[in-house]
Amino acid sequence: MDPADGKIVLEGDTKIWIPENTAVKRSSTSVFYNPEMELARDISIAVLNAISDEKFVFLDALAGSGARGIRVANELGLETTLNDWNELAYRTIRKNAELNGLNVEIKNENAKVLLSESKFDVVDIDPFGSPAVFLDAACYSARKILCVTATDTAPLSGAHPASGLRKYSARTYKTDFYPEIGMRTLLGKIARSSSPYDKFIEPLLSHATRHYFRTYLSIKRGKRETNKMMQEIGFISYCKNCLFREYFYGVDAQVGKICPHCGDKTISIGPLWLGRLHDRDVIEDALQELELRNLGKKREARKILESCKDEMAIPGYYDYHVLSKVHGVKLKPIEVVIKELKEDGYGATRTHFSGTGIKTDAGIAELVKVMGRGFE
Ligand SMILES: C[S@@+](CC[C@H](N)C(=O)[O-])C[C@H]1O[C@@H](n2cnc3c(N)ncnc32)[C@H](O)[C@@H]1O
Ligand SMILES: [Zn+2]
Repeated sequence: MDPADGKIVLEGDTKIWIPENTAVKRSSTSVFYNPEMELARDISIAVLNAISDEKFVFLDALAGSGARGIRVANELGLETTLNDWNELAYRTIRKNAELNGLNVEIKNENAKVLLSESKFDVVDIDPFGSPAVFLDAACYSARKILCVTATDTAPLSGAHPASGLRKYSARTYKTDFYPEIGMRTLLGKIARSSSPYDKFIEPLLSHATRHYFRTYLSIKRGKRETNKMMQEIGFISYCKNCLFREYFYGVDAQVGKICPHCGDKTISIGPLWLGRLHDRDVIEDALQELELRNLGKKREARKILESCKDEMAIPGYYDYHVLSKVHGVKLKPIEVVIKELKEDGYGATRTHFSGTGIKTDAGIAELVKVMGRGFE
């Protein structure tokens, strides 16, 4: 491996050497590096700084070029282990550690074996596509924080339901708020992977950006809290005819089958996570951290964090374009709809999941009424 056979890029304060034969897809003859993920890695640096203790030991279990773990070691100073079973990736990680003068541990193992044999304070799972096969071992290994990426947005969000059922043991459906269904399907599966170890999760930040889902979770032990966590899992009863939806908590929930709004049959989606997606204090801290750092994608990262911070902590949102089509109401600016919902006494915010999404505790009838106001 000749340094001349590649190039060095700067991410944050870290130099990353990228060999010539990189790819953004699965391959044994090239090393994974995706420059588009710089934004996600910038967010990781700010969030991990907000939630980790300087004594935490960090594992980048599926490290690729090492971009994420090398940045964590260099920019946050955490004791770090990086692992990848691909020989080329392993050599690239070594080169990147050397380039930044870092003393990190580098392994060339099957991540599932490594996770089953050793524990780390922070475990980061950043796979190709679905993280499902790593979740059991990752929940076992993580002592304090678990970070998970998923790029298989189609199975998670209901576009490929058979694959969603195989990977996440959950019924998915393509609703008008499908990115949030995807995030909650992922979180539901992680919760059900942690519970056999008497471990419970608490989401600190969960963001969906294009084909990329990323969640940061606190993970701790405790039978009682784990029992409580299981109550945050549940089902959604969704009517595709009028967009009515209702949330049923608990894995033994009796889900309503007939839409009380229009009388059509509803679709059951789940089990999925119905609890909160973020911790506002963590996002506040991460936002402050963002300002202090030298990060290439600061503006975009700030936008995502602000919007996660401000969104209502309730499951689901309505896509107001779909709502307008389904109910035959004209469109007015989204901010006007939100303002009028608030004037009528409802909670209402936008959501980071979609530019046309409205989170509100108003029911479908009230929402349609507000949408149609001014057009009578
Ligand atoms: C999406 S890439 C990682 C990207 C990297 N975290 C980054 O930020 O650039 C996934 C990596 O996981 C590795 N991998 C897949 N399955 C593995 C396994 N069972 N054990 C170890 N490494 C694995 C692949 O070789 C690949 O380099
Ligand atoms: Zn209905």
